[in-house]
Amino acid sequence: MSTHAKVRKAIFPAAGFGTRFLPATKSIPKEMLALVDKPIIQYGVEEALAAGCDQIVIVTGRGKSAIEDHFDVSYELECTLEKRGKTDLLALSRQVSHMVRLSYVRQKEAMGLGHAVLMARDLVGDEPFAVILPDDVIDSETPCLKQMMDVFEKVQSSIVATQVIEGDAISAYGVLDGKPVPDNPRLFDVSGLVEKPKPAEAPSKNAIIGRYILTPKIFDLLEHTPLGAGGELQLTDGIKGLLETEKVYGYSFEGVRHDAGDKFGMLRATVEFALKREDLGPAFRDYLKTLKL
Ligand code: G1P
Repeated sequence: MSTHAKVRKAIFPAAGFGTRFLPATKSIPKEMLALVDKPIIQYGVEEALAAGCDQIVIVTGRGKSAIEDHFDVSYELECTLEKRGKTDLLALSRQVSHMVRLSYVRQKEAMGLGHAVLMARDLVGDEPFAVILPDDVIDSETPCLKQMMDVFEKVQSSIVATQVIEGDAISAYGVLDGKPVPDNPRLFDVSGLVEKPKPAEAPSKNAIIGRYILTPKIFDLLEHTPLGAGGELQLTDGIKGLLETEKVYGYSFEGVRHDAGDKFGMLRATVEFALKREDLGPAFRDYLKTLKL
């Protein structure tokens, strides 16, 4: 890795089963569930582009072909829309398929997030890269990954997004140990990480949220990381290995994170995103006011 490397590639792990959303996800990838009118993975892809990435690697598995179709040209749909003179819709469809260069790699077994990232090793090579977990939709003025890129420019070290999670819910996350960096209230000097600790064993309230910028050293480490929480190869454990030779930072981003892989999180995101839309917001707001809650 050169001393002033740029992050060009973003990995999207998308091979999970989406059991929290059954039965909807029996035949539809959870990444394709719509938040208002856009699949949740598209929010992440747009964020990666806005942060300056120009190559997207999606780690897929069985039953995920709808993701590939979504980012591909749909000749039949485009022909029909063209014939009917639906130029706005045609532009929307084309915008998705012409968005970016995408590569796909299969994760044949569900062996965990660390394993999913490792599957992209050949496509990433020896350069720093981003990881976006599509379930985590982040609504912010400056895209979360862009905020992290700006920090990476300066520190040239791995960075994980973090947010304070109160109470027992912390045990659903990777959790950071460390201390704030003087003069930068958003930056956290990481000294340890633990994946899904019991609430009493969590080293802090600083949970890992699904945005990472990682140095390529992580690949060697993941090759040798033993299986961890849930019997899976955990990305968190790989990052812990990085600490032996490199610095790792937590970054407390500006913005609101929605867990769109969870029913309640998706409902909340839907309401908030719909209210912000110019075409839907005013009518939706009026409708919500009529509800006797
Ligand atoms: C994954 C990571 C975890 C992180 C979380 C953020 O867990 O393993 O460290 O805190 O994403 O959403 P998962 O939600 O896939 O169980």
